[in-house]
Amino acid sequence: MMTSILFLISLTLFLSYASDPWDGVIVTQEDLQALQAFKHELVDPNGFLRSWNDTGYGACSGAWAGIKCAQGQVIVIQLPWRSLGGRITPKISQFQSLRKLSLHDNLIGGQIPPSLGFLPNLRGLQLFNNRFSGSIPPSLGFCPLLQTIDLANNSLSGPLPPTLVNSTKLFRLNLSYNSLSGSVPVTFSRSPSLLFLALHSNNLTGDVPDFSAFQLQSLTLDHNFFTGTLPSSLFRFSNLSVLTLSYNRLTGEIPAAIGNLSSLRELGLSHNAFTGQIPNSLSDLPNLNSFNVSYNNLSGFVPLKLAQKFDSSAFVGNLELCGYTGSAACVPPPSQAPPPPASKKRRRRLSSKDIILIAAGALLVILLITCFVLLCCLLRKRKMEREGKEGGRGTAAAEKGVPPTAAEVEGSGGGETGGKLVHFDGPMVFGADDLLCATAEIMGKSTYGTVYKATMEDGIQVAVKRLREKITKGQREFEIEVNALGKIRHPNLLALRAYYLGPKGEKLLVFDYMPKGSLATFLHARAPDTPIDWATRMKIAKGMTRGLLYLHTNVSINHGNLTSSNVLLDEHANAKIADYGLSRLMTAAANANVIATAGALGYRAPELSKLKKASTKSDVYSLGVIVLELLTGKSPGAGEGVDLPQWVSSIVKEEWTNEVFDLELMRDASVIGDELLNTLKLALHCVDPTPSARPEAHQILQQLEEIRPETGTTSSGDDGGAMASPAQD
Ligand SMILES: *[C@@H]1O[C@H](CO)[C@@H](O)[C@H](O)[C@H]1NC(C)=O
Ligand SMILES: *[C@@H]1O[C@H](CO)[C@@H](O)[C@H](O)[C@H]1NC(C)=O
Ligand SMILES: *[C@@H]1O[C@H](CO)[C@@H](O)[C@H](O)[C@H]1NC(C)=O
Ligand SMILES: *[C@@H]1O[C@H](CO)[C@@H](O)[C@H](O)[C@H]1NC(C)=O
Ligand SMILES: *[C@@H]1O[C@H](CO)[C@@H](O)[C@H](O)[C@H]1NC(C)=O
Ligand SMILES: *[C@@H]1O[C@H](CO)[C@@H](O)[C@H](O)[C@H]1NC(C)=O
Ligand SMILES: *[C@@H]1O[C@H](CO)[C@@H](O)[C@H](O)[C@H]1NC(C)=O
Ligand SMILES: *[C@@H]1O[C@H](CO)[C@@H](O)[C@H](O)[C@H]1NC(C)=O
Ligand SMILES: *[C@@H]1O[C@H](CO)[C@@H](O)[C@H](O)[C@H]1NC(C)=O
Repeated sequence: MMTSILFLISLTLFLSYASDPWDGVIVTQEDLQALQAFKHELVDPNGFLRSWNDTGYGACSGAWAGIKCAQGQVIVIQLPWRSLGGRITPKISQFQSLRKLSLHDNLIGGQIPPSLGFLPNLRGLQLFNNRFSGSIPPSLGFCPLLQTIDLANNSLSGPLPPTLVNSTKLFRLNLSYNSLSGSVPVTFSRSPSLLFLALHSNNLTGDVPDFSAFQLQSLTLDHNFFTGTLPSSLFRFSNLSVLTLSYNRLTGEIPAAIGNLSSLRELGLSHNAFTGQIPNSLSDLPNLNSFNVSYNNLSGFVPLKLAQKFDSSAFVGNLELCGYTGSAACVPPPSQAPPPPASKKRRRRLSSKDIILIAAGALLVILLITCFVLLCCLLRKRKMEREGKEGGRGTAAAEKGVPPTAAEVEGSGGGETGGKLVHFDGPMVFGADDLLCATAEIMGKSTYGTVYKATMEDGIQVAVKRLREKITKGQREFEIEVNALGKIRHPNLLALRAYYLGPKGEKLLVFDYMPKGSLATFLHARAPDTPIDWATRMKIAKGMTRGLLYLHTNVSINHGNLTSSNVLLDEHANAKIADYGLSRLMTAAANANVIATAGALGYRAPELSKLKKASTKSDVYSLGVIVLELLTGKSPGAGEGVDLPQWVSSIVKEEWTNEVFDLELMRDASVIGDELLNTLKLALHCVDPTPSARPEAHQILQQLEEIRPETGTTSSGDDGGAMASPAQD
């Protein structure tokens, strides 16, 4: 159930201090001095640091905004989006326990202090979207545990220090949108740990480095002044999924070996001076969904598959390239005339404007979200208390015991301190730190646990389900089951993208975040005068049915708890069934409880009161109830006194059939009347009290398709419903 409650908490705090907000140790003298110096050098026009007023008692107790401590030492300074100006004090090096410094999206300028390099525990440095200038201090690379450096979108100039990538834990380095110059040091291409390297939009020159020891997933070098040809070493990385080299001065041919990059999703080569043909091997890349070779000097035929998959703007500006929609016929070169310079220039400008607009849009969204972050400290305590009371229901002394120390939870990217984050395939990239430090908003609670919308530092949004610890299976069994669930992919099933096992047994499941929420809210909690037309309702019904069919036939899972709150909608109102297979992660006792709840909500098939075991037929019953919900606009079990199937049947018996339909739909009754009636019959068939009389999912789908055939472009959504995350742009 989605609620409008804005209980915002930081997931980290939640996990770290679930039953104790503060370890009781007062800040050390050295850290207090450093905090005072830190505040002194910043300009704080909106008074966000007003709370840093006492003589230090509040620094670690949670009273000072943006500070987290462990054993009296500051471990996190997190003050993004606070309009802070000024500079960072060199005394920053006094925070010997500091793990994370996050000051992104402020107006802080000056040099990045070289003394940051003397922080032995620093793991994350987020200074993007500020006004830092000067060069990048080579000492930054001396922090042995650094995992993430993000200095994007500042005014940094000068060369890339070869030592920057010295930390063997560094997996994300983002220096994009600066004025860095010179060539890429050879150390960068040899880092064994880097997964994401963003150097785009700088003034870098020289060759594209010869990457050797690399497990790189994303390499963005576009909008620079790179010259030379593409090094063949680049094509050995089967894990590379994003490669952008557009707007450089690269020459030579595009090697056929590029077809070895089997994970490649995005390839940008536009605005260079590549020659020769587009290699055929590119057509075999299964995941390639963004491709652009416009404005080069390519020739010959565009491979057929590519020409079909990408529109002509991906190929234009290559005089001798043919075989795509709108291209010249394939004939020998008529002349050597270069493309008209004027048009080339206009395109360039247009596209950078587009980029700014898109970036601004993304920023706005992020801004809105983080307005709430401030609240989190205030609400945290109250929230914790509630959570403690409600979460423990039925599990007695459930979450007693020592809370994990901040150090354990903060711990990092790959479980070096006991936490373990496992990713399944998908477009999202984040480490355990990113996840645990995300700001989280409660979306709902169920017998299995609490669901949060989590927004990570770089804007990635995910839905996180924190499972109740006492009701899940033991770790080994749990992992076997969760790994199977993580492989299930269908456009109408909410994809499980990752899971996290905390050092104290916390279990988090990470799913795609669905901006439109659940069907229940979409249908029953909408604003007045926002009708939902029949076509949309039918699309949702078909989507749900397809999802259920896949569950039943392809992966042999009975859902057991299908309700309109468990059907989520993506931005195009495509249905995505959630919560499937979760019963496999739970103990038998927990599952019996869920069946009881589903009954209370009016979705439970009558036979379940005795059998207590979900079947395909009991799922079909629940599906039927949801279709009735779509038809009537009424929520099952909400107020009518009788359950929805009974209510509908009684009215139909009395020959008042038209009275059951949602009034909004009746406006178009002359056109869709038959469709409504036939769908109603089908739904009533699904809720037949006798399980064997109910149809199977494939029959339901077939009938729905007969009732309202697809009209050409209706699509059931892109696979997995990958949300657009700003970090992937
Ligand atoms: C310090 O700031 C907090 C929050 O702004 C406020 O509640 C408190 O009264 C202040 N204390 C002092 C000594 O000024
Ligand atoms: C860079 O930061 C400025 C504000 O500091 C912001 O307006 C702009 O959108 C940012 N650009 C990118 C590409 O993030
Ligand atoms: C670079 O890293 C290695 C091993 O991680 C370390 O021994 C060496 O001292 C580091 N160099 C510098 C300049 O920090
Ligand atoms: C970087 O390149 C841009 C565009 O060519 C130029 O305007 C700017 O002066 C350069 N900056 C530096 C620091 O070289
Ligand atoms: C590719 O990634 C997988 C996990 O995502 C990893 O196990 C594998 O070692 C990587 N391959 C290479 C060549 O780095
Ligand atoms: C890559 O592709 C080329 C040609 O398509 C092939 O000869 C080569 O063996 C492949 N593998 C590697 C590791 O380069
Ligand atoms: C394009 O390539 C041809 C040879 O294939 C060459 O003669 C011509 O100068 C090139 N044009 C540009 C603009 O680079
Ligand atoms: C390809 O790049 C050009 C120039 O940047 C842009 O105008 C065009 O929209 C892009 N096309 C596709 C399909 O990405
Ligand atoms: C790097 O920073 C830019 C600008 O903030 C962002 O758009 C991009 O997604 C980031 N890339 C990575 C790999 O972090």
